[in-house]
Amino acid sequence: MNKFSVGVVGTGGWGKNHLRVFSELGVLSCLCDIDQSRATQWSQKYGCKAYTDLDKMLETEHLDAVTICVPTTLHFSVASKVLKKKINTFVEKPMTATSADGEKLVELAKDSGVFLTVGFIERFNQAVVETKKALKEKMLGEPLLLEFHRENKWAGVITDVGIVADTTVHDIDTARWLFDEEPKVVFARLGKVLSDKREDFAAMTLGFNGMKTAFIVSNWVTPKRLRQLTVVCTQGVITLDFVSQETRFDDDKGTRIPRLNFKEPLLEEMTAFLDALKNGRQPLVRPKDGLNNTIIAEAAIASNSTGTPIYLNI
Ligand SMILES: NC(=O)c1ccc[n+]([C@@H]2O[C@H](COP(=O)([O-])OP(=O)(O)OC[C@H]3O[C@@H](n4cnc5c(N)ncnc54)[C@H](O)[C@@H]3O)[C@@H](O)[C@H]2O)c1
Repeated sequence: MNKFSVGVVGTGGWGKNHLRVFSELGVLSCLCDIDQSRATQWSQKYGCKAYTDLDKMLETEHLDAVTICVPTTLHFSVASKVLKKKINTFVEKPMTATSADGEKLVELAKDSGVFLTVGFIERFNQAVVETKKALKEKMLGEPLLLEFHRENKWAGVITDVGIVADTTVHDIDTARWLFDEEPKVVFARLGKVLSDKREDFAAMTLGFNGMKTAFIVSNWVTPKRLRQLTVVCTQGVITLDFVSQETRFDDDKGTRIPRLNFKEPLLEEMTAFLDALKNGRQPLVRPKDGLNNTIIAEAAIASNSTGTPIYLNI
């Protein structure tokens, strides 16, 4: 597999970034969007073939990988079709809208013999990369507490799912990734502030082994854009900003702010995706990560409905 060829399904607000990055990486072969004018616009910009029908694209093209950027509630049906054609599949987060569909997709990926991965992009953010490295090297001892804030006014783009499935899932993944284990218990309070159609406010606690805890605050209400994480460790504190990628380490010796070169997370993510496929390796995010993330998100919604903690065995 020397000259790679990738197709992108769904070219709206986020899919257009997949197109740009794959075009930059020289692997963009074709795209598919049910919106004809969108499909035509991007195919002209990037000089690639355009389809409005996924079946037609999968029958006609010989693709090494397909990335899926359709609305969340369509992830399962689109990803199933691609996997059944035995094509490596990258599906945007969350992997599926329900864990029942997630289980089926994990099985389908096993049967297909190709790789399935999920767009948990923050793992490729330089601030998270630096933090993961510091935790692995135990620079500040053991991590105890993660406190996430992902807040800004709703742009009105996502209409098929609420804030937990759309936004909080980023931080659920980062918590699992940094603690390197699954939570044992979830307690959440959710709210509908700006619209009665879907939750736009979430505050949740994930309890891990021992004292390890993640507090995740997400909302589409706050006018100020906040995307921050504080990691309290036994010997110091790490503070990072997901947007600027600035990462600060504070301990008894003082403050250290390493000079990180800003890197676009999506470019890093897709470079790693292609690299894994070219080397026949499972990409960093495994199907099980996608499934467990959805199980945790569902538990948070159930916790809010019942007013009780939900214990997990994943
Ligand atoms: N990783 C990230 O940081 C990030 C950021 C934003 C969105 N996303 C994810 O990307 C996905 C898409 O979000 P968006 O904001 O781009 O949505 P969007 O509504 O702007 O775009 C979706 C596109 O899919 C097309 N589409 C719908 N059904 C289709 C089908 N059956 N076949 C082909 N095309 C179809 C629509 O015409 C539209 O162009 C969501 O799952 C979202 O969670 C990820």
